[in-house]
Amino acid sequence: MATVLLPLPEDIARGARLLRAAQRIVAFTGAGVSTESGIPDFRSPGGIWSRYRPVLYHEFLGDPEARRRYWRMQRELYPTLAGAQPNAAHRALAALWELGRLDCVITQNIDALHQRAGCPPDCVIELHGNGTRVGCLQCGRTWPRAEVQPRLEAGEDDLRCEACGGLLKPTTVAFGQPMPERELREAQRRAAGCDLMLVIGSTLVVYPAADIPVCALEAGARLIIVNLSATPLDDRADVVLRGHAGPTMEALLAAPAARLEDPPSA
Ligand code: APR
Repeated sequence: MATVLLPLPEDIARGARLLRAAQRIVAFTGAGVSTESGIPDFRSPGGIWSRYRPVLYHEFLGDPEARRRYWRMQRELYPTLAGAQPNAAHRALAALWELGRLDCVITQNIDALHQRAGCPPDCVIELHGNGTRVGCLQCGRTWPRAEVQPRLEAGEDDLRCEACGGLLKPTTVAFGQPMPERELREAQRRAAGCDLMLVIGSTLVVYPAADIPVCALEAGARLIIVNLSATPLDDRADVVLRGHAGPTMEALLAAPAARLEDPPSA
């Protein structure tokens, strides 16, 4: 990070007062929570969608050329994903969990960095799947994603299941691919049951995931948004913290007004 962007101290204090008052916090995260771990996001300048054209699910299923494009992107991006370590924002959420203040993290990310920072797996709801495994679309067998990288590097570009010959694909959700129903329902339920929704690092433009913070708002929750750029929900947020996720989350948790060791109070 060349220049660290931090929100105004008075905005941090307002956010910290909301944290202090909250009984049940749900975090909703996007690619921006992981950029400080070295993983590029999708829509910022220089982001993944400025370098690659997304492959839609029906193209993946029906078009060998699209599959080759998909696996080329996978081969190039995987080393960054595999080498990434959790950052201060992931650690701040794990600390909120430790303190008993976080109900769950609902994430659009597939990098498993929330779990690696210390959030238990059953506290992380992955709406777009998980990039650490590859599955056969025909027989359902799965393998660690790491085992597939040598095949890509050896020149394979349209990967097939060694057991049944079906198409292999990372266990992530492509555009046009159905969302995991159980996770989506659970995310809606947990969002509707929280009293503070903490959005970190998402443009909030990809649906149905982007509806999750709206479920919380409609059920009466407060909303804090931590993001470098504007989102469509900024106008409905109680506090918008325009800053880098890691330092902003650290400042929020350390703010005197947060008093996180004390029991919550309005
Ligand atoms: N701190 C705070 N915000 C950041 C940081 C950072 N260090 N880095 C980036 N951001 C912000 C950007 O300003 C941007 O608004 O995070 C947001 C990332 O937005 P996207 O790139 O659109 O990522 P996301 O919202 O997660 O995308 C949703 O789209 O194609 C997909 O499936 C993919 O899950 C992904 C979905």
